[in-house]
Amino acid sequence: MSDEPMKAGEGVDLSRRNFLTAATVAMGAVGAAFTLVPFIASWKPSERARALGAPLEIDLSKLEPGQMVTQSWRKQPIYVVRRTPEAVAKLEGLDASLKDPKSEASTQPDYTKNVQRSLKPEVLVVYAACTHLGCLPKQYFTQADPEMGADWPGGFFCPCHGSRFDLAGRVFNGSPASANLGIPPHSFKSDSMLVIGVDATQGAA
Ligand code: FES
Repeated sequence: MSDEPMKAGEGVDLSRRNFLTAATVAMGAVGAAFTLVPFIASWKPSERARALGAPLEIDLSKLEPGQMVTQSWRKQPIYVVRRTPEAVAKLEGLDASLKDPKSEASTQPDYTKNVQRSLKPEVLVVYAACTHLGCLPKQYFTQADPEMGADWPGGFFCPCHGSRFDLAGRVFNGSPASANLGIPPHSFKSDSMLVIGVDATQGAA
C-alpha cells in the first residue's frame, strides 16, 4: 500500500475505457455511412436528372412501321416515328409545296440536314411543339387521308391554327408556322436503341 497521491488517469477502470473507445469508433463508422448516402444517392439516374437533361434511351425494337411514340426530354415532348418505306419515298419531290424544304431556316443538328431530316431514313425524331405557337400537331400519317385531301403525303396537322407538316416535320406553304419542327440532338447506341441528348457527332449534348 502506497501513501503517494493518486495522479490523473490512475485507477481508471480499463474495461470501461475500452468500451468507450469501441463505441466512439462505431459511431464514427455510422456517421461516415450517413455522410456517404447522399453522395451515392446523387449518382443514381433519376427523373430529376432526366428533367435537367440526362440522355434519354428509347428502345425502338417494338415500334412498327407507321407507328409513333411520344416521349419527354428536358420537359419538352418529342415525337419518334418509324416511317414506312413508302412514306420515306414520298418525302422526295415535295420541295415546291414546302416553306423551308432544305431546312435552311429551321433548327436541327447538321447530321439531320437532309431530305429525311434524320440519321436513319425510317426514324424521325422531332420536337413535338408546333413552331407557330407551341401546340402539339396531330398525326395524319395516311397518304390521301380524307380529312387532308387527295394530295396529302402523310404528316402532321396542328389543330390550333392549321399548320401542316410532312413526315420529316417540314412545314407546308400556307401554314402560319414558318419553320420546320425542331430536331433534338440524338444518336443510336445500337441498331434499335435511340439516345436523345447524345449528339451523333459531338458526345453528350
Ligand atoms: S400553334 Fe400550331 S398552327 Fe398555331
